Amino acid sequence: MKRKIKARAKQKKVFLILMGGGGHARVLKDILQNEPGVQLLGYTDLKPNSLIGFRYLGDDGVLGNFVKKDVRLVNAVGSVRLPEVRRKIFEKGKALGFQFHSVIHPRATIASDVFSGEGAQVMASAVINPGAHIAENALINTGAMVDHDCQIGAHTHVAPGVTMSGNVFIGFGCHIGAGATIIHGISIGSETLIGAGSVVIKDIPGGVTAYGVPAVVVAEKNSSRGSSSVTRRRLSASKVGETSPKSKGFGGLITGHKVTFLQGKP
Ligand SMILES: CC(C)(COP(=O)(O)OP(=O)(O)OC[C@H]1O[C@@H](n2cnc3c(N)ncnc32)[C@H](O)[C@@H]1OP(=O)(O)O)[C@@H](O)C(=O)NCCC(=O)NCCS
Repeated sequence: MKRKIKARAKQKKVFLILMGGGGHARVLKDILQNEPGVQLLGYTDLKPNSLIGFRYLGDDGVLGNFVKKDVRLVNAVGSVRLPEVRRKIFEKGKALGFQFHSVIHPRATIASDVFSGEGAQVMASAVINPGAHIAENALINTGAMVDHDCQIGAHTHVAPGVTMSGNVFIGFGCHIGAGATIIHGISIGSETLIGAGSVVIKDIPGGVTAYGVPAVVVAEKNSSRGSSSVTRRRLSASKVGETSPKSKGFGGLITGHKVTFLQGKP
């Protein structure tokens, strides 16, 4: 018993900085302030937000003042007009040498074999069923349902209330709008935006905006990154971070409300 207490006392605290000070930052703060072994240092953004209720550190430039091995970052950008902002924040933090902390709400329901990449986030009441892979920096937002064997690409935001049947493949950097429904076996290419409330019953290529019931492509984005065809490939557990060209994240098993990393240290 004594040894256990000693070991716990020795356990290093994880210091966290949130990148972004909007609505999603408030949700993350609410989760992280109750996570054992974690201490929030503050948040970065272009300007302070009085609603956040904890320390404003300055813009991202201040990150250079912190020791990388002592501090992890949390991507606090949820929904913004341009879905690539989430990816850019992640890439900026990685380029500075930081690791991203994964945030898993204690009341998310996640099957025991679900793998996730570095910095993945799963919010309250989300359900992720067996065989699903959540790549690095992906966000499964409040109440979203990700059924068995789905693959969610790096940096993709699955907005609140999305329903995804089994074996759906989503590329990297997508935004799946609030309340959208995607039927089983559908593939959606990278950097595609699916409008809120859409019902997707056919594959959608990369780099487009699609919406409606049933969803149809309404616009092509000027993107050199979103491929127009859908490449569907099953990832091995340890390669779950590799759905983005720049991704080299760790694959990890979600256990309880934490991600247990398989390779290296988070
Ligand atoms: C798809 C989307 C990006 C389109 O945005 P936009 O380009 O600014 O489009 P607009 O608002 O100018 O609307 C253009 C037309 O598309 C229609 N439209 C827009 N979004 C639609 C949707 N999700 N489903 C059906 N029709 C839609 C509008 O009614 C409008 O039709 P009209 O020309 O006949 O009047 C946006 O509406 C959307 O659904 N975003 C997702 C938001 C979300 O899920 N946020 C999650 C927060 S966590």
